Amino acid sequence: MALNIVILAAGLGKRMYSDMPKVLHHIGGRSLISQVLKTAFLLMPSKIIVVYGHHGEKVKNKVMQDFPNNEICWVYQEQQLGTAHALKCALPYLDSNSATLLLYGDVPLISQETLDKMLDKYDGSNVVMLSADTVNPEGYGRVIRNESFEIMKIVEHKDASQSERCINEINSGIYLFSNNFLATWLGKINNNNKSGEYYVTDLIAIAYDNGVGIESVTTNKLYEILGVNNKRQLENLERLLQVKQANELLEKGVMLYDKTRIDIRGNLEVGVDCVIDVGCIFEGEVVIGNQVAIGAYVILKNVIIHDGVTIKPYSIIEGAEIKHQAQIGPFSRVRPTSTINAHAHIGNFVEVKNTELGDNSKANHLTYLGDAKVGGGVNVGAGTVTCNYDGKNKFVTNIEDNVFIGSGTMLVAPVT
Ligand code: UD1
Ligand code: CA
Repeated sequence: MALNIVILAAGLGKRMYSDMPKVLHHIGGRSLISQVLKTAFLLMPSKIIVVYGHHGEKVKNKVMQDFPNNEICWVYQEQQLGTAHALKCALPYLDSNSATLLLYGDVPLISQETLDKMLDKYDGSNVVMLSADTVNPEGYGRVIRNESFEIMKIVEHKDASQSERCINEINSGIYLFSNNFLATWLGKINNNNKSGEYYVTDLIAIAYDNGVGIESVTTNKLYEILGVNNKRQLENLERLLQVKQANELLEKGVMLYDKTRIDIRGNLEVGVDCVIDVGCIFEGEVVIGNQVAIGAYVILKNVIIHDGVTIKPYSIIEGAEIKHQAQIGPFSRVRPTSTINAHAHIGNFVEVKNTELGDNSKANHLTYLGDAKVGGGVNVGAGTVTCNYDGKNKFVTNIEDNVFIGSGTMLVAPVT
């Protein structure tokens, strides 16, 4: 079955109190919309349509940076007249005889697993909706069922009666429709309700009244359907995502001293017998080998760490490769395009930039190595500086194998 996915992202996000469009705020190191798109692409849809409104160009540009090789169809909704109106804007772009999954740019943690369950229940012509049971249904649309437990309709909180408000099954807003059903009915929805909006939820009553089958998947993972309207909700979802990611690491055998004190803002791969102390942050793409020990408050961004490496507390490594058995820290800073080779040591208050440090070489104290090529077996004494910059240009320092450099040496580049 060919699948179309429509992502609604036209909302303004006033309650974020930000000049940035809501869907560009970050969760787990990605924008909200990119987090949704990442999951959407996993379903291998034939088409993804994003309905945008405010600050559309900013959203488009950012998404195109995140997904340079994927095709996305952008549809502009000039006025936000309701979820059904937003979906109707996408209608001309839907493939006939396909199905459409409706997602939201500000509901970031929906999982592939849950969406797959919905796809399993789709038979080519029915409607599949995702609901959840919650003790606090305030604000959500309620799922109304008949005596046979069949779904009859959804009533928005604003429009619900006192007894309907006591229902704990809520509408996630995520549905799967056949495109023929949408083409027939979407234009017939009116806005006779408390909000004066065109509600996509009306399609459920329309399906029931016209004998179209309605199936549901009910999730017990409420966070998957929670939306972001303000920074408090964003922080709450960020913490939930972080604990979820930490649990996944623990389940794969990575030892974390505290699963509530680790932040992964991107993709982290870790081998066996690794230990990660508290307060560490992993950003971008981080790959860690086996038997690696990472001390407290270490920050790693876009790095490859090979087997047996020890990174001591308060070290910051970005855009670098650390080869096997090397030791870094405490208080080291390794900056982009650096390679620290096997068994080498970088110690406290040592900054390394665009430098290769050879096997078994050491720079243990208070040193700056920038634009340097350092061979194997070299000892760099305390207070050594590669003076790589004359105010206009940068120059290279070459230090060959087995060199001993005494403390307090200024190496004015270019120098070999
Ligand atoms: C919607 C559902 C409600 C459900 C809840 C789950 C409707 C009528 N109600 O309510 O049953 O419990 O989601 O969170 O659908 N949007 C547009 N264009 C528009 C209107 C909305 O792009 O014209 C986008 C918004 O940016 C937002 C999303 O659609 O991301 C949901 O719209 P919103 O009006 O917030 O619906 P809810 O009141 O949350
Ligand atoms: Ca909302």
